[in-house]
Amino acid sequence: MKNITLLGATGSIGDSTLAVIALHPDKFNIFALSANTNWQKMRVLCEKFQPKVVVMADAMAAEKLSKVVNNIEVLHGSNALNTIAAHDQTDYVMAAIVGSAGMPSSLAAVKAGKRIMLANKESLVLAGDLFMQAVADNNAELIPVDSEHCAIFQCLQSGKSGLSKIQLTASGGPFLHTPIEQLKTITPDQACAHPNWSMGRKISVDSATMMNKGLELIEAHYLFNLPAENIDVVMHPQSIIHSSVYYNDGSTLSQLGNPDMRTVIAYALSYPDRITSGVAPLNLADNSPLEFYAPDLDKFVCLKLAFDALKQGGNAMGTLNAANEVAVDYFLNNKIRFLDIAEIIERTLDSVPHSRITSLEDAVANDKITREVACIIAQSYA
Ligand SMILES: NC(=O)c1ccc[n+]([C@@H]2O[C@H](COP(=O)([O-])OP(=O)(O)OC[C@H]3O[C@@H](n4cnc5c(N)ncnc54)[C@H](OP(=O)(O)O)[C@@H]3O)[C@@H](O)[C@H]2O)c1
Repeated sequence: MKNITLLGATGSIGDSTLAVIALHPDKFNIFALSANTNWQKMRVLCEKFQPKVVVMADAMAAEKLSKVVNNIEVLHGSNALNTIAAHDQTDYVMAAIVGSAGMPSSLAAVKAGKRIMLANKESLVLAGDLFMQAVADNNAELIPVDSEHCAIFQCLQSGKSGLSKIQLTASGGPFLHTPIEQLKTITPDQACAHPNWSMGRKISVDSATMMNKGLELIEAHYLFNLPAENIDVVMHPQSIIHSSVYYNDGSTLSQLGNPDMRTVIAYALSYPDRITSGVAPLNLADNSPLEFYAPDLDKFVCLKLAFDALKQGGNAMGTLNAANEVAVDYFLNNKIRFLDIAEIIERTLDSVPHSRITSLEDAVANDKITREVACIIAQSYA
């Protein structure tokens, strides 16, 4: 029996994780759950999964929750997130908080030598070198929870010998075939209507701008220790091939499946074995034809900015991420237009001085400064 801490339990990855865990009560037990403000949903999860500890990042939400649950310790604040991530009664940690807020608890789990199932890609984008060093130093077990990286992780099980490149597939989101001119008037609801994946609103907008693929590019660089030159992106609107690895003998290995994060989560929970996930088997005949296109970097400027940030290194990737979080928040709150997102990120990258990231404090400070700069720039569009 493995005890699980689920960070970000009320989100989309949280839902899928709990759905898989509910299929295997003989294998997994929920030790701790966390959320930010959604205490009403957390109350329902507490009744169903009976965790020992719950952390609400928001103090008021924790107070409300503590009045309606019994026999569950309710804590609040970011230090408490680190506590449940590193707790000696937990075996596996699902890191599924959205945004840079998820980084410290992911790192706490790594430093405690846990199996960390990493959905929070921002942990690697903000402080990838430090994070991967901590994984090695503490003998933590890092399993990617992103469909593309899980696919590559699976394809690389026999090793990297002869590897020439890895290729991330990208659905292109809802606007793959939408002319740039029409993107000017896109609403948040249109941007969040992903054709294949059901996800939280922030990552849905990132998919629509293709910043999500940009963040995944950086994530892949750290996870698989490859330079930008050995990673590329291909558009594949059906999201059936989740990613591929290319070898120097002409072979290409890909991982396929229906687009459903429960497959990825089941693999992360059961690795190196496999367990059922509740996802229907793939029927290739139902999904033909499978299409592939080269990405249009003039239209999806965010993907180009991410390639540039990865090549630049240092704080550029954290700056890219923080500027994006600010811009997407403005967009979701109807303060700026869809195409302003990339412009705000680009102007923020031009304004924040380049520096090296040598500590967690550096990463946090860069994140804070960037948000301030990005807010000022975003205000000028609002
Ligand atoms: N969804 C996917 O299919 C998918 C696929 C691959 C990777 N990912 C990655 O997985 C992560 C989670 O994505 P998601 O789609 O599940 O997001 P989501 O649906 O928006 O859920 C986010 C979770 O994080 C919590 N949270 C938000 N802000 C927080 C804060 N400041 N402190 C502590 N907790 C906070 C939320 O709590 P409240 O509900 O209380 O706000 C919620 O539990 C992201 O990094 C995303 O890039 C997602």
